[in-house]
Amino acid sequence: MSKHTSSSRHYTEDFIWSQNIQSKMRDLVFPLLFILILQGKVAASPTCKCAPHDGCWPSTAVWNDFNATVSGQLIKTEPLAISCYPGPQYNPTTCASVNVQWSNATFQGNSPVGIEYPLQLACPPVNASAGEQPGNCSIGEIPWYAVNATSIEHVSAGIAFGKSHNIRLVIKNTGHDGLGRSEGYGSLEIWIRHLRTGITYRDSYIDGCHSCNTTWNGPAITIGGGYTWADVYPVAKVHGVVVVGGGTPSVGSIGGWMQGGGHGPASRQFGLGADQVLEAQVVLANGSIVTASPCENTDLLSAIRGGGPGTYGVVVSTTVKAWPMFNVTSQQLAITSLTNDSSPLLDALTILYSDLPALNDAGYAGYGSWSIASSYPLFANVTSGYIHSFYMFNRSEQGARAAFATTLQKLLPFNTTSLSISLSYTSYPDYWSFYFTESGIEPPGGGQGTLGSRLFDRASVQDNTTGLREMMAIIAGTSDQMTSNNLELVSGGQVFKDADEPYSGLNPAWRTSYFSNIVSRAWATDASDEHIQRVKNDITFVKTGAMKMLARNTGAYMNEADPFDPDYEADFYGAHYQRLREIKREYDPHDVFYCRTCVGSSEWTQHDDGRLCRK
Ligand SMILES: Cc1cc2nc3c(=O)[nH]c(=O)nc-3n(C[C@H](O)[C@H](O)[C@H](O)COP(=O)(O)OP(=O)(O)OC[C@H]3O[C@@H](n4cnc5c(N)ncnc54)[C@H](O)[C@@H]3O)c2cc1C
Ligand SMILES: *[C@@H]1O[C@H](CO)[C@@H](O)[C@H](O)[C@H]1NC(C)=O
Ligand SMILES: *[C@@H]1O[C@H](CO)[C@@H](O)[C@H](O)[C@H]1NC(C)=O
Ligand SMILES: *[C@@H]1O[C@H](CO)[C@@H](O)[C@H](O)[C@H]1NC(C)=O
Ligand SMILES: *[C@@H]1O[C@H](CO)[C@@H](O)[C@H](O)[C@H]1NC(C)=O
Ligand SMILES: *[C@@H]1O[C@H](CO)[C@@H](O)[C@H](O)[C@H]1NC(C)=O
Ligand SMILES: *[C@@H]1O[C@H](CO)[C@@H](O)[C@H](O)[C@H]1NC(C)=O
Ligand SMILES: *[C@@H]1O[C@H](CO)[C@@H](O)[C@H](O)[C@H]1NC(C)=O
Ligand SMILES: *[C@@H]1O[C@H](CO)[C@@H](O)[C@H](O)[C@H]1NC(C)=O
Ligand SMILES: *[C@@H]1O[C@H](CO)[C@@H](O)[C@H](O)[C@H]1NC(C)=O
Ligand SMILES: *[C@@H]1O[C@H](CO)[C@@H](O)[C@H](O)[C@H]1NC(C)=O
Ligand SMILES: *[C@@H]1O[C@H](CO)[C@@H](O)[C@H](O)[C@H]1NC(C)=O
Ligand SMILES: *[C@@H]1O[C@H](CO)[C@@H](O)[C@H](O)[C@H]1NC(C)=O
Repeated sequence: MSKHTSSSRHYTEDFIWSQNIQSKMRDLVFPLLFILILQGKVAASPTCKCAPHDGCWPSTAVWNDFNATVSGQLIKTEPLAISCYPGPQYNPTTCASVNVQWSNATFQGNSPVGIEYPLQLACPPVNASAGEQPGNCSIGEIPWYAVNATSIEHVSAGIAFGKSHNIRLVIKNTGHDGLGRSEGYGSLEIWIRHLRTGITYRDSYIDGCHSCNTTWNGPAITIGGGYTWADVYPVAKVHGVVVVGGGTPSVGSIGGWMQGGGHGPASRQFGLGADQVLEAQVVLANGSIVTASPCENTDLLSAIRGGGPGTYGVVVSTTVKAWPMFNVTSQQLAITSLTNDSSPLLDALTILYSDLPALNDAGYAGYGSWSIASSYPLFANVTSGYIHSFYMFNRSEQGARAAFATTLQKLLPFNTTSLSISLSYTSYPDYWSFYFTESGIEPPGGGQGTLGSRLFDRASVQDNTTGLREMMAIIAGTSDQMTSNNLELVSGGQVFKDADEPYSGLNPAWRTSYFSNIVSRAWATDASDEHIQRVKNDITFVKTGAMKMLARNTGAYMNEADPFDPDYEADFYGAHYQRLREIKREYDPHDVFYCRTCVGSSEWTQHDDGRLCRK
């Protein structure tokens, strides 16, 4: 992880820690600021959200009153690594423990301000045993307060407080977000992780008002709060059904994953996470708690089913489809470069990528990754190669082999000459034994880098193979660039069929795209801010740019996309953007909710001092 912040935003020296001193001095500082405001030096425009140093910011007494309305669940936040910095909370033992646990997703998720992949790290942990000296620690983008909501009423109260005091609101579940959508300077966070009203299974779904035509009367699971898939999967398993959830179990079930799309090992077979939602309970900007279903608030249902998180309201419960059990045959393909020349690997991958639509039509789905010079081993000791786990449901190994035969014939000439290709199959009697063996493993967190992605339809990999090969060379990067690619063959199948779903906010590109390719670059811990900016530009304009050139008519999966995509409205939402903007206006006319790259966010700008203002 970098000891430098990846952004120039430190928001004035006021915020350079020590926050401890700052909090001790708040009572002193605030009257001073108030005088400055009166003198017009810190003019608070009514078109801006109220920021911490504005006169409109609630006094400690007002926060205390608010705390009482949320059963004392209000938290005054502070950076996770504050114990590493000089000040009253300096504590080398705590700091050492924070440093060791930093890349642990559970550790980050347990904290109201833990973010695994923050856009900037304004208060990095310090590895004292490596002789690191603390630099600057500032509050950066982390919220100033958090409501540790344990009831829906706490959510309502948090929204009401934010709305009446014109304070920026942030909704956070797991903190997995990599686009800065679950953070925000000077904000009040609604933390839903401890909102847990239960996970319930039923054999046949009947819509709440018994009066509309729901096409689904199969089994369903209601997920009441900030659960992760690690909580929900065992319930599905016990009842012998499959539920579409994240490939990684630590992803939240009702938050950003679902509302932004949501793929997993079962999405090709049963559809994306957004398309699983039969009905949801949502707390609106005006504090009302409503049901969104095919019977009522249908626009809201459409919007939360793929139209982006954190935008229309706080989802507090969803009821999702559950599917019959399937067996699984999985395929492991591993390719290793035998020479320093990356061309054969890229030639082979061009063949594989061209064949992905056909393989997916035949029933294959799965995840792969590759690099020509990875900064960590892809598998065993291999740093130049490709590896995937693909799988088919309800198919014998023989069937799976047959479906791969044509592609294999094209790859075999490379074997033992320039590449080493190994292929094996594993069969599982049911989905869960497959999932917990091959997918449900937490990736190591931490590390610093940036990524971009693109959805690919059939034409983009088949109409111009010369162009595809050129693109491969660009996204592979040069050997010094610490570039890796992740292939997510998660669409096709039911995702395409669900194009008929009447209530959907999903980027229409998903309905024709078979896979997403993520290209990412890391940087060394001692990288300069200039280098980091060059890497970001390379990802945005060169590498993601090359993918866009080839897949011109698609878009990107918003949850795993370039936070700096200049065309994010078109890329993340496609033709649905305008309709989603209207739905936001209907349910959140005063922009109580805001998040980076979310619908309506282009009408706002964050100033250098951190203040969020209308453009
Ligand atoms: C380790 C890891 C593994 C991943 N694996 C997958 C995967 O297998 N498949 C996949 O599709 N994606 C995956 N992702 C990407 C994931 O979909 C996004 O990070 C997503 O934003 C996570 O949603 P969350 O609710 O868990 O995270 P959070 O960071 O808590 O929230 C993300 C966004 O959702 C909003 N939000 C959260 N809760 C609510 C709510 N109740 N109501 C309204 N808005 C809410 C937040 O404001 C924010 O905008 C993974 C990410 C990580 C870090
Ligand atoms: C809110 O109240 C609880 C219980 O009294 C207290 O522990 C907590 O520190 C308070 N939060 C703030 C921000 O003052
Ligand atoms: C991650 O953190 C959690 C909570 O702090 C802890 O229980 C767990 O053991 C940690 N995992 C690892 C691998 O350190
Ligand atoms: C901290 O530094 C020590 C000594 O260099 C090293 O062994 C250790 O892995 C580092 N810890 C982390 C979390 O980076
Ligand atoms: C710390 O912040 C100060 C004031 O903004 C700045 O001058 C200095 O360069 C920063 N130091 C580091 C190590 O980032
Ligand atoms: C949040 O609330 C839950 C439930 O009351 C509690 O267990 C947890 O410790 C709280 N977390 C923090 C950081 O206060
Ligand atoms: C349900 O579907 C039937 C048959 O398609 C139709 O006649 C009926 O009007 C529908 N009811 C509602 C409430 O939409
Ligand atoms: C391959 O690269 C390594 C590391 O850069 C180098 O040591 C080796 O000589 C190269 N081999 C060939 C055949 O070029
Ligand atoms: C990687 O492992 C293989 C098999 O164990 C071995 O033959 C090869 O020399 C190793 N390569 C490197 C670069 O260590
Ligand atoms: C899975 O089910 C299919 C269809 O019933 C069957 O042909 C196949 O042999 C089964 N595979 C495994 C691994 O059990
Ligand atoms: C590639 O060649 C090796 C060595 O002959 C062989 O063991 C392996 O099975 C071949 N790979 C495939 C996919 O056939
Ligand atoms: C193929 O793709 C390349 C790279 O994107 C582009 O320069 C070229 O014009 C394309 N060719 C055709 C026939 O579209
Ligand atoms: C809250 O907003 C919704 C959607 O705009 C609206 O239907 C409802 O009447 C509002 N409730 C109150 C109490 O104003």
